[in-house]
Amino acid sequence: MSDVENYIKRDKRYTWHPFTQHMTERDPIVIKSAKGTCLYDVEGNEILDMISSWWTCIHGHANEDINKALRDQAETMEHVMFAGFTHPSAIELSEKLAGILPEDLNRTFFSDNGSTAVEVALKLAFQYWKNKGEDQRKNFLAFEGAYHGDTVGAMSVGKGCGFFNMYEDLLFKVETLPYVPTWESDTDVEQKEKDALAVIEQKMIADKDSIAGLIVEPLMQGAGGIRLCRPEFIKAVTDMARAHDILVIFDEVAVGFGRTGTLFTCQKIGVTPDFICLSKGLTAGYLPMSITVARDCIFDAFLDKGFGKAFLHGHSFTANPLACAIAVRSLELFEENKLLEKVAHIETRHREQIKRLEGHAYAHKIRVKGSIFAFNINSDDGGYKNDDAEFLRDWFLSHGLNIRPLGNAVYLMPPYCITDDELTRAYDGILEGLAALQEKNSVSLKVAV
Ligand SMILES: Cc1ncc(COP(=O)(O)O)c(C=O)c1O
Repeated sequence: MSDVENYIKRDKRYTWHPFTQHMTERDPIVIKSAKGTCLYDVEGNEILDMISSWWTCIHGHANEDINKALRDQAETMEHVMFAGFTHPSAIELSEKLAGILPEDLNRTFFSDNGSTAVEVALKLAFQYWKNKGEDQRKNFLAFEGAYHGDTVGAMSVGKGCGFFNMYEDLLFKVETLPYVPTWESDTDVEQKEKDALAVIEQKMIADKDSIAGLIVEPLMQGAGGIRLCRPEFIKAVTDMARAHDILVIFDEVAVGFGRTGTLFTCQKIGVTPDFICLSKGLTAGYLPMSITVARDCIFDAFLDKGFGKAFLHGHSFTANPLACAIAVRSLELFEENKLLEKVAHIETRHREQIKRLEGHAYAHKIRVKGSIFAFNINSDDGGYKNDDAEFLRDWFLSHGLNIRPLGNAVYLMPPYCITDDELTRAYDGILEGLAALQEKNSVSLKVAV
């Protein structure tokens, strides 16, 4: 039995993969090592990781500087409980974030992943109103198409993406707002936003005393299909929320740490949310950790002489020192390696591809923002699973590219260390993959006729 067969046999017997139907899914690829932009399977084949392994590895894989920070921290202290104790790496990280984030977004609450960062924000918003004696403010607003993670609260505010119908009975009530995705040459976006804003305002007015908060994926709905929107739209919605005393949660789990061209997307929009949720790029793909940063005025509402108003939430691995040390080093690398300039360069390269794809039968709604490049292969929106998308995913992998379409959307979100040649390889690969898809579908059309 070869090494690959051996690993696959054991994987199939003992592991349970996420978002996977094990009855029908093809064998997973066994990755043995990773360096820079590339993954290497057990047989030594190279795969260019064009989606930064679920949008996490912003500096590429096995970055020497981060490896060193991790080693240094491991030799000093691997973990300490975070109630009644603290440690230098957590303090440094919190201080750095407070220095970069706008206004009084200063209070860092640590948890373990993007979903828990959202759970924490929802619980904090809910309890904020209770602590202030406004118990009736307990409902949330979220967008249609939004995805905020897979835990119960995150699924509740993410039910607009349609992935969670199975769990409907478990979820709490959330009012869904219209979202206005946009793309290149979208001529009537302003009118669509105007119409949506009118509906949103009505909903805010109708429920104005019962809404605790609004949760937003700023500028990009990720898992819902890489749907970009204009900063003006998000700014208008958040201004409206503010006018009705609704707390604003920015879920920047996907778009934080440079993805859209600024370190945090709230900076691009010019809004200071009440909470910002961060994960993925926070630890550059090394370790699971997340952060919910709250404004000082939110924190103050939890202060009291008694224990009743305290936030009773915590995880065993809260503020794990290894993860904090990595996050600190990752932030330093933004400066040292001028990463935002790299993202701007990636955006320029992405924009050059628009002309190559325009008019292609399998490229609709082409869109670019920072390091994000996306288009839809069909003109309708489709679901999470889609035969053409599966074909493309496998085609890309067999041609050394990790490009994993999300439903109908083919997209790139490369690590920021990507080279020009690697980008060209990916763009050319996309065009060749689409040609293969066209060929497959014209053959099946002929067979059907
Ligand atoms: C915007 C957003 N929020 C939350 C999450 C959940 O993060 P995690 O998978 O780390 O729980 C994701 C994951 O893709 C996301 O894109």
